[in-house]
Amino acid sequence: MSDIRLTEASSHMRHGSNIGQPLTRRDGILKVTGQARYAADNHVPGMLHAVLAVSSVARGRVTFLDVEAAKRHPGVVDVMTPVHKPRLAEDPDAKTHPFMFRLELLQDDTVRYANQAIAVVIAETLESATEGAALLAPRYETQPARVGLDGDKSFAPPAVGVGNPAEVRHGDVNSALTDASMRIEATYETPAQYHNAMEPHAIVAAWDGDTLSIDTPSQGLAMAQARIAGLFGIPPSNIHIRSPFLGGGFGSKGLISGPQILGIMAARLVGKPVKLTLRREQMYGPVGHRAPTRQTLRVGMDGDGRLTAIDHHARTASSSFDDFFEPAADASHTLYASPAIATSHEVVRLDTGTPLFMRAPGEAPGSIALESAIDEAAWMCGMDPLAFRLKNYADVEPITGKPFSSKALRECYAQGAERFGWARRPLKPRQLRDEAGFLVGWGVGTATFPALMFAADARAVIRADGSGLVESGAHDMGQGAWTALAQIAADGLGLDLAQVEFRAGTSDLPDAGIAGGSAHTATAGMAIHNAGAAVTAKLADLAMSDERSPLFGAGNTGVIARDGRLYRRDDESWSEDYADILTRAGLAEIEARGKGGMDPAAQSIYAMHAHGAVFAEVKVDPDLGQVRVSRMVGAFAAGRIINPRLARSQLFGGMIWGISFALHEEAVMDPRSGRLLNANLAEYHVPVNADVPSLDVLTVEEHDPYVNALGIKGVGEIGVTGSAGAIANAVWHATGFRVRRFPIRIGDLVVPASD
Ligand code: MOS
Repeated sequence: MSDIRLTEASSHMRHGSNIGQPLTRRDGILKVTGQARYAADNHVPGMLHAVLAVSSVARGRVTFLDVEAAKRHPGVVDVMTPVHKPRLAEDPDAKTHPFMFRLELLQDDTVRYANQAIAVVIAETLESATEGAALLAPRYETQPARVGLDGDKSFAPPAVGVGNPAEVRHGDVNSALTDASMRIEATYETPAQYHNAMEPHAIVAAWDGDTLSIDTPSQGLAMAQARIAGLFGIPPSNIHIRSPFLGGGFGSKGLISGPQILGIMAARLVGKPVKLTLRREQMYGPVGHRAPTRQTLRVGMDGDGRLTAIDHHARTASSSFDDFFEPAADASHTLYASPAIATSHEVVRLDTGTPLFMRAPGEAPGSIALESAIDEAAWMCGMDPLAFRLKNYADVEPITGKPFSSKALRECYAQGAERFGWARRPLKPRQLRDEAGFLVGWGVGTATFPALMFAADARAVIRADGSGLVESGAHDMGQGAWTALAQIAADGLGLDLAQVEFRAGTSDLPDAGIAGGSAHTATAGMAIHNAGAAVTAKLADLAMSDERSPLFGAGNTGVIARDGRLYRRDDESWSEDYADILTRAGLAEIEARGKGGMDPAAQSIYAMHAHGAVFAEVKVDPDLGQVRVSRMVGAFAAGRIINPRLARSQLFGGMIWGISFALHEEAVMDPRSGRLLNANLAEYHVPVNADVPSLDVLTVEEHDPYVNALGIKGVGEIGVTGSAGAIANAVWHATGFRVRRFPIRIGDLVVPASD
């Protein structure tokens, strides 16, 4: 991306540690000055505009489209329909890879969900295309939509992608529950949620013969490239994708979506570049969502407040044509020691778009249920909820018995509680009031998210002028990859950040895997680190085997790369500049590649998770039931923190999602039509600044030599996991109302007047 000018952050570290510095975003100035070019900002000469016509029914068939009326409209160039579209080389319903989303690409007249594309109008202007789409006046043959978790019979689903099996058992839960001295059984419901990234899915696609040039937001460039290659029957190397910036993804841009492919098909059909941008309401359907869940927890305790059984069952939904499900019960694998644990899932098929991974898939809704149930169990035992969690602290991963690669959760509890002032919490609910008379409550939730890694490649170069170049097709969806990965790159090369050119965000660069699963910094970062180590090792070989070098013969003790020089490890008075080594060797540059990925040997021994403890204070109007989160403290242990400023921002973001999950977000489906009633950002509530108090984040030091050589666990998603539960528990502590259906509503928190 030579056209991206990233600014150098203020800090000038010597002695090789860019990692750990709280640098500002290197793309920040581009973004705040409007110079960062997002996909839909691109205008290719001769470009046409495509607009989707989408179904207004949830299930059935399209029986009529007034294509002639649309085509007669001034400016309309063509109308793509199931009977008029480019040929695809692959069935969009085929699934040749576990991480594949079946797509609606106008393969026939079937309607699988509301907002599914049923035609694409291509015109000279956006206005003409929009008007043309309105003229299609579709007619349907409609069948009753299957809506809601009781909308159809359920089945036990197969594992999805890299996920766990739907049912996992450890010990005998049923007899443990029978023998327990105390037990609770409670059912929690979480709603469907939509990703709602600020930037809509958009694409500008231009064909030149059988090569394809695309601007589109992507969290997984190589996978998108492979999917497009399969569908159009061209080699992946013919496809060039630029995705320098994303206005949020949250999982919805992890796999290329149907509408993005339709943009490419439209460009193929008319033989000109085409831009297609989803309207906000069109993002509620074809680009994934979080499925609703209904989770039942049965928890047993002995007389001392020790857990003896956790049975976590989740009923959730998938689409009628694909298999992704929200693995909500998996949260119970990790958090609490119990001799018996069972987790299970059942799925109903509904007439919706296929759900997809979204902001801590599984753990987000799962931990809200588990953390609520644990709070209920603590109350039944008459124990402080934090003391109860400590009593049931898992020293090994409960479901597998594996030791943790590292787990500083005790420190998270201690430091978070201290900062929050938890020791002053009254045990009983409804004890605290503020000066205005609002009920005040304090709650805690435990955060957990697996420390995952996917697979990535990177390339590192040292040039004869002493500067470096690092290439990785990494994705910055707002999390700060442009900065954090460049910090890793600079340290890997032993250079100052200002000396390193970092290229990312395009598909012609080495595959950096997917920016998802909170694993991107670890995965792409390790590839970059290893590429840097490999290229400096090559440079060291050059120097150590050349008798003109001060490092000649240092082979046995080795060298250290720092500040653009190699130093003898045993005697740093012997050193040589990168530029001198390359110049003497007559080389313009030297390059090497590196890989990042999980270490299966370490994985087989250790359980790897990030952890955290979130403390929340809420204030509830006793008459109106209005809830405000007034204060939150989150303490997280997530291995090595590459950039504390960006990590804090990620953790804040996660905690705000927690507020959102507990109090705001819900997609409301009309049970009669199967259409969403609030497919817009006015009625689909997300927190605004007024809903977010000043948040406090602590990162607890955690050294993990097993997750990867850099010790990175990831911070992208963990923030949501403890936060929603902490808020629900605080609401109970404020009011005495245990709300088990999310989001918590005003009506849940007032005593009905008994006149
Ligand atoms: Mo995330 S849901 O892995 O983008």
